[in-house]
Formats: sequence, C-alpha cells, structure tokens
Amino acid sequence: MQSTSRFYPLNQTQPYPFEQWWIGAYSSEVNRILLSRTILGQPLILFRTEAGQAAALAGLCPHRLYPLGKGILRGDTVQCGYHGFTYDRTGLCVHVPSQDAVPAGFRARSFPVVERGGLIWVWTGQESNADPTRLPDLERLGLGRTDWAVEQHPRVTIKARYQLLIDNLLDLSHISYIHATSIPGGAALAKISSDIVETGESLCVRRVGKKLPSNPFFQMLFPDYAGPVDQHFDTEYLGPNLIRSGGAVHASAGDGSAKPTLLGTTNFLHGITPATPNSVHYFVMTARDIRVHDAGIGGVNLQMGTVIQSQDVEALEAIEINIDAHADTRRELSCAADEGAIRVRRRLAAQIRNESAHNSATSSG
Ligand code: FES
Ligand SMILES: [Fe+2]
Repeated sequence: MQSTSRFYPLNQTQPYPFEQWWIGAYSSEVNRILLSRTILGQPLILFRTEAGQAAALAGLCPHRLYPLGKGILRGDTVQCGYHGFTYDRTGLCVHVPSQDAVPAGFRARSFPVVERGGLIWVWTGQESNADPTRLPDLERLGLGRTDWAVEQHPRVTIKARYQLLIDNLLDLSHISYIHATSIPGGAALAKISSDIVETGESLCVRRVGKKLPSNPFFQMLFPDYAGPVDQHFDTEYLGPNLIRSGGAVHASAGDGSAKPTLLGTTNFLHGITPATPNSVHYFVMTARDIRVHDAGIGGVNLQMGTVIQSQDVEALEAIEINIDAHADTRRELSCAADEGAIRVRRRLAAQIRNESAHNSATSSG
C-alpha cells in the first residue's frame, strides 16, 4: 500500500496546483445573491457588484468563521450574518457594529476573478501572479463568440479526486464500454489508433474514426449529407482546469485522393475544478459551429450529456472509494492507450512540484 502522504496518482503531497485559474462557476450562477462554493478546499463566496462585476471572497468570516454565504449583500459590501462585520468587494473590513473604528488590517481574503467565455474564473494562487493571459484560448474552442452555439450542462460535484476525471478524459477507449448504451460505434471505437501532439500549452491525444456510417444523430447535424464520416475523438489537455474532447467531423473522402470536406465541429469542453482533495466540480459545455440556431440540437446535446456524464460519474465514484486502500501506481497495468494519461500525470506532477519548490524558495528567501 502506498504512503497516505502521497496523493495518488501523482506521488505528490500537494493534491493540486494553486497557481492556476479555475472555473468557480458559470456566469449565470453568479448574481446579487451570495453563492457559496468550495474550490481547492477553500470555501468561497461569489457575487456581483451593483455594476455587474463578479467578485470572490473567502467564504468564512475571519471573525469567528461563520459562513459568509449566510450573510447578505448590501450594495457592494457583504455583511456577515453572525455579528455584522462588513467587508467590501476587496475583502477589506469596513464596519464592525460593536465599535466605532475598524482595526487596521481586518480583512477577508479576496480572490482575483476574470469573467470570460460565460465562465467565472478564479485565481487561487498568489494575487500578484493572476495573469489573464494564462487562461486557455477560449475563442479557439468556441466559447464567448457569436458564430458558435454553446450549451452549459448542469454542474455536478463528483465524489472522486479530479485526477480520476483527467485520466478518464485522456483515454477515450472507455467510450465503447462505460458508454456502450449512449454513444454509437461499438467496440470499433476502442480500436481507433491515436497519436499525441504535445506543446508547451497542451497535450492532444488525436484519434480519428474513419468512414463511420451515418446515424440518426449525424443526420440531424448534417441533413444534406448521408455518407460515411471521419470523426475526431480528440482529447486535448489544456491544463488541469480544462480539457477539450470531440472535434471536427469530415465527409469521408471517396478514394483517399480528395481532401475530406469539413462538415463541422463539436467540442466537448470539460471544466475541472477540484472541490476538495477527494471531490471535483465538473462543468461540461458543448460548443458547435454546426446549425448554431437549431435549439433541437442543443436539447439533444444536453440530454445525451446527462446520460454520458452519469455513466462517468458512477465509474469515478466507484474507483475513488477503493483508492486509499488499494491504489499503487507501481502496480497498475497500463497499456498503449494510457500514454496520453500518463504523460498528463507527469505534466501535472511537474506543475505541482515546480510550484511547491518555488513557494518554499520564496518563503525561505
Ligand atoms: S463571525 Fe462574522 S461577524 Fe462574527
Ligand atoms: Fe466518458
């Protein structure tokens, strides 16, 4: 059995990187009512100022740790529901009802926030490092633009560590089994060969299903085309916070000489935010440049997404309950299809290691 101080499967004692943008919420969830949410083990409150700007503060009142989410929003300030200490949107305490003056330095932690692509991104690291250019290129994925349609699927919180969700997405050969009843294609999908394209920004496991027969879903997407298609089943790791799967669909070329015609693209975007070391918030979005005004397709995407997601959730939760007693990366049986997931584990472990090394260098220097 592995030492409990290591956080399977990363062999690190720190479960996640903090110097990172994470999705705190969908934009639509954040309004003039305090939203309580725990991310990376940190209770937060999210809200909007009167001018509509999103803000995030620590979710526990620094006076006696009463949940600030049980307080109220007064203008742009948050009043704690216990003794009425009041904090502005930067977390500065501006009022202590039981005395005239507020002692200097009374504050709740505030978190840098950026709203982009219909998402509220929260920076959990040092405030001075919160650089919006470190966000993934959301427009390339189809978010925050008018020529793509996006469905935001209901957020779920899975009782499993976030690394299991990353493992799951990096090896889509599971589609043929866990999703046998929900994704057409059968065992042939698990046999599609893959290649890996790795850059500083991302790692993409590329798989293209060739000459897949048309099916009712393709006919709905592409009513003018009934022939076989070449469909991408990519998984692109853009960071521990966001993974793209799916991709372009082409009309299969007849004899291989002509370039296949692009029919359209659907990206499945998987927002991953650790809630605690053993649970993860999962934000799924479908983004497509196909028939963007067809609400029927959006409805089908949402319906299919709910079924597919529940199958993954069940699998991950079934694994999580066994991990502490049985997991040991040295004893895992891995096959060729695991290469992407294993490389991503290495990337993530290196990110956490570098961050811990940097933090200990800064605190001792
Ligand atoms: S706990 Fe919030 S004011 Fe006392
Ligand atoms: Fe899945």
